[in-house]
Amino acid sequence: MLFLDRNENHFGPAPEVFEVIHNITPEMLTTYSRDFMLGIKSKLSAHIANILGLAEKNVLISYGSEDMLKHIMHCYLLPGEKLMIPEYSWWYYTRVASEVYANTVEYPVHIHRNSFAYDIDEIITLVKKEQPKILLIASPNNPTGNSFSERHLEQLLETFPKLLIVLDEAYIGFSDKRLDGNTRLVSKYANLAVLRTFSKLYALAGMRIAYAVAGEQFRELMMYSNRYLGYNRISEQCALAALKAEQYYHSIQSIIVSERQRYMDLFSVAEGYTAFRSDANFLLVRFPEDHKEQMQRTLKAAGIQIKFYDERLLKNYVRITIGTPAENSQLLNVLMNFLSAYVPLSEITGNSE
Ligand SMILES: Cc1ncc(COP(=O)(O)O)c(C=O)c1O
Repeated sequence: MLFLDRNENHFGPAPEVFEVIHNITPEMLTTYSRDFMLGIKSKLSAHIANILGLAEKNVLISYGSEDMLKHIMHCYLLPGEKLMIPEYSWWYYTRVASEVYANTVEYPVHIHRNSFAYDIDEIITLVKKEQPKILLIASPNNPTGNSFSERHLEQLLETFPKLLIVLDEAYIGFSDKRLDGNTRLVSKYANLAVLRTFSKLYALAGMRIAYAVAGEQFRELMMYSNRYLGYNRISEQCALAALKAEQYYHSIQSIIVSERQRYMDLFSVAEGYTAFRSDANFLLVRFPEDHKEQMQRTLKAAGIQIKFYDERLLKNYVRITIGTPAENSQLLNVLMNFLSAYVPLSEITGNSE
C-alpha cells in the first residue's frame, strides 16, 4: 500500500540522523538527561534558542505539536471558553478543545481562483465579536495549503495584545519563509506562541518531537509543559542532527516544490477539477462530486491511499501528500488513466513516466 494521506515525508531523515541512531549508547537508554546541570532544560531547546535568537525559557519541547496543542488547550481553556480556528483546518484542534469542554468557533478561509486565503479584516471583526480566549492560525494551513503573512500576523498582535495567538507552523519548512521569520515576533509580542515540528520537513514523525517558541504571556504553559526528568534523549539528539543537516533538507524542500507542480499541471488540464496552490508538502484538489466513488475505487484497486473527507465542506475534496518522485509517478499514472476516462484532458502534462 502506498500511503500519501498523512502529510508525512517519505524522503526520510538526513544521514546524520541515522548516525545518531547507530551510535545510541546504553547510557542514553538507561539514564535521564543531566542537561539541567548545564543550567538548561535540554541541549535541543538551548540550540533552537540560539539559532532563533531567543532565551531558552521561551523554547518549549514537546512530544509532537499534537502534544503542545494539548498542553495549550488544557492549560488555558476553561469549559465554555472559545478557541477560534480556520473553517477548513486540522480536525484535531476541535477535538482537543472539546477535551476541556471549550467551544470552537471558526473564521472563514476564502477561495480565490485556485488558492485559499485568509482575510485579515474578517478575522479581526470575528475576534471582536466572539471574544475567543485563543486564536489559532495555521500557516501553511492543513488542508488548504495557504499561508498567513508576517505583516498580517503583526497587525493581529498589535490589535489584540491580550489575546493568546497560536501560530501552527508545522509545514513552514516547505514554504519559502525564513526559519526565524515569525519566531522573532515572540520577543516583541508576549501573546504569541509559534509551534514547529520535526515530523514534516525533517521526516521524524515517528520520533514524536516538536517545539514551540512562546512569549511571556504563556508563563503558565512554560511551567505546564516542563519535563523535570528531561526529554526523550534519542529524539532530542536526532532533532539536533536534523537541524544541522540544512543542505539535505533544503534539497528535499526543492524536490517537493517541483513534484507538487506535477500534480498542479495534471489537474490544470482536467475539466471540473481544481488543484489549489499550496506552500506545504500536500495539495488539496476539488473534484466533481459524482466522481468520488469511482475515484476511491480506482485508488483502492491501485493500492494507493490519499485523504478523502466526509466533512460537509470538504466532501468533494481530496488531499494528496507529495511523495518521492517515484511514488508521485505511480499516483499520477493512476490519476491520469482515471481522468482520461472521465473528463476531457485538454493537454496531458504530468510527465509521469
Ligand atoms: C497543522 C498540523 N499541525 C500539527 C500536526 C502534528 O504534528 P506532530 O507530528 O508534531 O504532532 C499536524 C499533523 O498532521 C498538522 O497537520
